[in-house]
Amino acid sequence: MKTLTRVIQVKEEIRDMRSQGKTIGFVPTMGYLHEGHLNLIRESLRKTDVTVVSIFVNPAQFGPGEDFARYPRNLERDSEILKKEGVDCLFVPGPEEMFHKGHNTYVDVYDLKDKLCGRSRPTQFRGVCTVVLKLFNIVGPDVSYFGQKDAQQAIILKRMVEDLNLDVKIDVLPIAREEDGLALSSRNEYLNKEERKAALVLSKGLKEAQMMVEKREEKSEAIIDRVKEMISQEPLAKMDYVEIVDMDNLDPVVRIEKETLAVLAVFVGKARLIDNAILRPKE
Ligand code: PAJ
Repeated sequence: MKTLTRVIQVKEEIRDMRSQGKTIGFVPTMGYLHEGHLNLIRESLRKTDVTVVSIFVNPAQFGPGEDFARYPRNLERDSEILKKEGVDCLFVPGPEEMFHKGHNTYVDVYDLKDKLCGRSRPTQFRGVCTVVLKLFNIVGPDVSYFGQKDAQQAIILKRMVEDLNLDVKIDVLPIAREEDGLALSSRNEYLNKEERKAALVLSKGLKEAQMMVEKREEKSEAIIDRVKEMISQEPLAKMDYVEIVDMDNLDPVVRIEKETLAVLAVFVGKARLIDNAILRPKE
């Protein structure tokens, strides 16, 4: 595996691969890798000739007072894992390499950026879109892999790719979970033992939502109320939002008549956790 820290090195490497007619798969990450990341990486290894992974804890997507400084990092371990998986190229830029002094260009996807997580993290998606567009321009992938775990992020990035005529296909893979249901996340690292237990309220709430739809409940309000009640009964959890929204435009849905997305964000201790599930009404 080649580990590169400079933009120019990656561009050269990719030019070389392209001249050999190879297809490029790309998995952008913020590191502290887990099985959720590895699923994306393995899919890229299966489907494309060359797999590039980036690790960059992107300051632009953290707001003031958020967890940028204490976001978990372990480059040595990540690097070992990626080597074992057979990744071709790891790109680990320093902060100045990605955002040099004087950087002043940002990409925003209206109005999706203001919904759901955008309400409590107003500049998050501007940071995500800007860094991902830069990474796409550096790596020039044929396919880039993202997780359904960050459903809003995936929807926003797909819109960016379409709106800006980017030559990259976005593939979104299902949420990887622990055996007990907790969605894998680098931020689970923040949880102590009690909080780890309390964090199950997210996946349990979503399971309950799916059960209600299976029992032919169609009213979003009834489902949202039930999930909010479950969260309020967990003393270590504090709700940010619970919503049922359209899969394409993220607008609230009143009656669940087709596939719809149940999404939530909950604070547990110092961690702000997100999760989601697709609700499929019976025919
Ligand atoms: P990060 O949180 O490291 O996630 C990298 C990729 O892994 C994202 O596409 C995310 O959706 C996916 N992922 C994380 N947990 C997952 C899980 N449990 N199941 C499936 N996929 C999962 O998302 C980011 O980094 C950043 O915003 C980034 C896109 C790299 C831009 O900075």
